[in-house]
Amino acid sequence: MCGIVGYTGNADVGSILVSGLRRLEYRGYDSAGVALFAPEDAELTVVKTSGKIADLSASMQEELPATKHFSSMGIGHTRWATHGAPTEANAHPHWSQNHEIAVVHNGIIENYAEIKAHLVAKGYTFSSETDSEVIAHLVEQCYQGDLRAAVTTALDRLTGTYGIAVISVKHPGTVVAARKGSPIVVGLHDDETIIASDVSAIVSRTKQVVFLDDGDIVTATGGDVEITTTSSTPVTREATLIDWDTDEIEKGGFDHFMLKEIHEQPAALATGLRGRLDETDGTVRLGGLRLTPQDMARIPRIILAACGTSYYAGMVGKYYFEDFAGIPADIQQAAEFRYRNPIIEPDSCMIAISQSGETADTLAAVREGLMKGATVLGICNVVGSTIAREAGRGVYLHAGPEIGVASTKAFTAQITVMAEMAIMFGRTRRLSAAVGRDMVRELARVPEIAAAVLEREAEIKVIAEKYAQANDAFFIGRGYMFPAALEGALKLKEISYMHAEGYHAAELKHGPIALLDEKVPVIVPVPDLPDKVKTIGNMQECRARKSPVIAIATEGDSDIDAHCDDIIRIPRCHEFVAPIPVVIAEQLFAYYVAKARGCEIDQPRNLAKSVTVE
Ligand code: F6R
Repeated sequence: MCGIVGYTGNADVGSILVSGLRRLEYRGYDSAGVALFAPEDAELTVVKTSGKIADLSASMQEELPATKHFSSMGIGHTRWATHGAPTEANAHPHWSQNHEIAVVHNGIIENYAEIKAHLVAKGYTFSSETDSEVIAHLVEQCYQGDLRAAVTTALDRLTGTYGIAVISVKHPGTVVAARKGSPIVVGLHDDETIIASDVSAIVSRTKQVVFLDDGDIVTATGGDVEITTTSSTPVTREATLIDWDTDEIEKGGFDHFMLKEIHEQPAALATGLRGRLDETDGTVRLGGLRLTPQDMARIPRIILAACGTSYYAGMVGKYYFEDFAGIPADIQQAAEFRYRNPIIEPDSCMIAISQSGETADTLAAVREGLMKGATVLGICNVVGSTIAREAGRGVYLHAGPEIGVASTKAFTAQITVMAEMAIMFGRTRRLSAAVGRDMVRELARVPEIAAAVLEREAEIKVIAEKYAQANDAFFIGRGYMFPAALEGALKLKEISYMHAEGYHAAELKHGPIALLDEKVPVIVPVPDLPDKVKTIGNMQECRARKSPVIAIATEGDSDIDAHCDDIIRIPRCHEFVAPIPVVIAEQLFAYYVAKARGCEIDQPRNLAKSVTVE
């Protein structure tokens, strides 16, 4: 949520900031700005605009005098509004009163009203409605010749969460940044440093990065980097080598990141399986869990916590842990977890699922789980993310960067990883080697199953276009198809703005069926599984109310044909794997509906990737 870039070094700071902000635009895209330093007159210039980075870039062309040379340091921001509308005034960077200090901020300052009142009483004037502006004035008020000390003192007065970057005309070439609850990554490269809220803004310049911990304050001048704590004690943080390729964060010939990421699924799933499957023993090896067979055999209960798409993946995971390992499992909305004072028995295992590894509610659930003594495992995609680091153990998805705001490859990778974990846990319990082998073999087929759905893209597009102008849609399913239905509805509504609801197939008649008529299509994942007959009954109920029914059914299963208006075919596979091809078909359906409706697919309105506020 929101993106920060800061730069210190000798290169063209304006273009580095803009290209970093473009990489971060998926995190927030309602307004943007930069603060640049001109050494010859020791002045900061701030350019801000409502709208996207392209608008910012145009404003920079217009507003920055060609004769002025900006160098040595700068900061930039792309915003997802929390306090105050997405206007130019509310865009970051924010000035201090004397225009000597500029600040960009991600997060929420909870006590900003109180601080603002104090600053106003001292004669400070505010030009935005944001909580963030107080930081700029507060740093000015605390400044006594040392920028890092001023930032440290100012931060001490703030309650809430922040990732910030600060520059001052009094400290040419220096960027001070800090984090508490909102990520900051420091890219190290010869005689320059690039600071950002996300590695994607950094990888084109360097792959050597340091992830700040909460409470860290970094002071970078050119290539010199010093990290201190809030009590000004120097600390050492290990650098990590990022293995992302710049190509992975480009669209690679696809119209949208979302479509590219849908197509990456066979490869991403293959990477997540590589080296983990053990066909001989019918099990899976996941070293990052750091659990012995004895530990796994003792787990009395699994608590899964996540938000959004990751939550629906967790629902599938719950079925896996109960079906394969016989361990009672619950999936909880991460946002509720810490407020409900959950019961965590000794030896309980908590699994936090988060693509970004930065979702504020999921992170809070992790902290609550750790505090209550659970063994906490993270399932994250972003290496070095806060949840991955704080959980301290878990499994990475290795799905590659997900830039499209709508999560796609992360969902299928998450459920693949949970199937792996459930087999591994199951083998310490009742799951036999023979059944384990069958499951491992089926998992090995997942990339090929995913690829087979992608071959149906043209057919799915035609069906999507047929229903693209509907106002409402339902997705219904039972068993493993229930979470798949929920995810299908979420995907459709978030990128196409078509109102869509996911329901258990049997629940429709307990109320929502009242909404069905010939204008409301119902999408029904109904693979050739034992409960198919019951779902066919639910399809008939929908058709009796004149709703068009679109089935997602197994290739060659002709039982479905008479009960639907359109069919999307998926390959025959085991029940536990079926959510993968079904959800890929739903992703393509949502994509082509959104495209036909002319929507901004990669950056849907009001959304942002990585929700780092509560
Ligand atoms: C939907 C979507 C969101 C995320 C949710 C959790 O397409 O992307 O619902 O799944 O915000 O994000 P992570 O997985 O990063 O914790």
